[in-house]
Amino acid sequence: MPTPFATYLVTGGAGFIGTNFIRHTLALRPQWRIICLDALTYAGNAANLDDLPARFPERYRFVHGSILDTKLLLKILTQEDIAGVIHFAAESHVDRSIHKPQTFIATNVNGTCQLLQVCQAVWEQNGKPDDFRFLHVSTDEVYGALGDTGYFTEQSAYAPNSPYSASKAASDHFVRAWHHTYGFPAVVTNCSNNYGPYQFPEKLIPLMIMNIQEKRALPVYGDGANIRDWLYVIDHCEALLTVLEKGAPGETYLIGGGAEKRNIEIVHLLCDLLDRLLARSGSRDLIRFVTDRPGHDYRYAIDAAKIHQQLGWQPRHRFEDAIEATVQWYLGHMDWVETIRSGEYRQWIETNYNLRDSK
Ligand code: NAD
Ligand code: TYD
Repeated sequence: MPTPFATYLVTGGAGFIGTNFIRHTLALRPQWRIICLDALTYAGNAANLDDLPARFPERYRFVHGSILDTKLLLKILTQEDIAGVIHFAAESHVDRSIHKPQTFIATNVNGTCQLLQVCQAVWEQNGKPDDFRFLHVSTDEVYGALGDTGYFTEQSAYAPNSPYSASKAASDHFVRAWHHTYGFPAVVTNCSNNYGPYQFPEKLIPLMIMNIQEKRALPVYGDGANIRDWLYVIDHCEALLTVLEKGAPGETYLIGGGAEKRNIEIVHLLCDLLDRLLARSGSRDLIRFVTDRPGHDYRYAIDAAKIHQQLGWQPRHRFEDAIEATVQWYLGHMDWVETIRSGEYRQWIETNYNLRDSK
């Protein structure tokens, strides 16, 4: 029997952005059915999505598996009538890519290529439906680092500096090639730094929230002057839906928050916010300036004029409100944080921070 739903495959859906995307989309798009394919690496957490099979029995299915498993990909794509693929699955942390680049090459480059090959083959078998979309979720880090002025645009030259950004840049190029060579209806988005619920506490914002809460040292790389453009994850999810529904195949869209902050500003803000919410003082005294990240990109900033003018998207959340909501979420989900802190997490914290001297 034909299903009344359009089925989308979401890779890496048990990670930070994927979890937010699935939860937001199931709530907002009653005609969508989602199959989440996730290998459940250290960054993926099946519990993020645990309540969904009961809440959406007809509209949600979880498959534990890897984008490196061609047979499994082929099985899912031939058994299900897939209307589109949203590709989040990746290794995503710059510091880890510096310690161990191999997994970034395997997942981000080879994994994306395998996914492209299988999706293209099935899309061709199905008679190349016009409305099929492959949305490749990528990062602004592929464009390298900016100085104090200027913005990345869709015309900026690729200049990735870290093993992470190099692997994402390579995957972007393969997606582009699949569109150019085979006419495969793929779209690429390059987004700035996200923050919000469910982010793994290896990244700046959740790491600092957890450490402040526990009165542990706050490791700021270098002098803390590096700048990132922060976007609330729900705004990113809405941008991705906009690109899926209105974006043109073969196009790239840059997504940014227009909220540039130096790292030290973020850390100060989180210290003051947690001091207020927890009725304490002195969190700023926990700040430690530590050895810088090798090859640390100075500044990322996005000119999001194209997605705004052509597709009508712009961020809805103010940084000040969304960062407070994020802190409240972590404080209200300490059980989630505890489950995340496996032996692997503790090992990573030792590897990354024991090597860094306090300055
Ligand atoms: P994340 O590390 O939190 O999650 C990645 C997910 O991918 C995890 O659930 C993991 O289990 C899964 N995964 C890893 N290897 C897999 C494989 N071989 N097969 C199937 N699943 C696999 O990452 P995130 O922050 O949610 O980022 C998602 C995507 O968005 C990534 O592609 C990242 O490059 C991109 N992105 C992230 C940001 C950001 O600020 N977090 C910004 C721009 C773009
Ligand atoms: P991160 O969250 O790892 O994202 P990305 O490297 O992809 O931008 O880091 C954000 C910024 O915070 C980056 O400039 C590095 C810095 N940083 C610290 O100063 N201390 C830390 O412990 C971490 C994890 C990051």
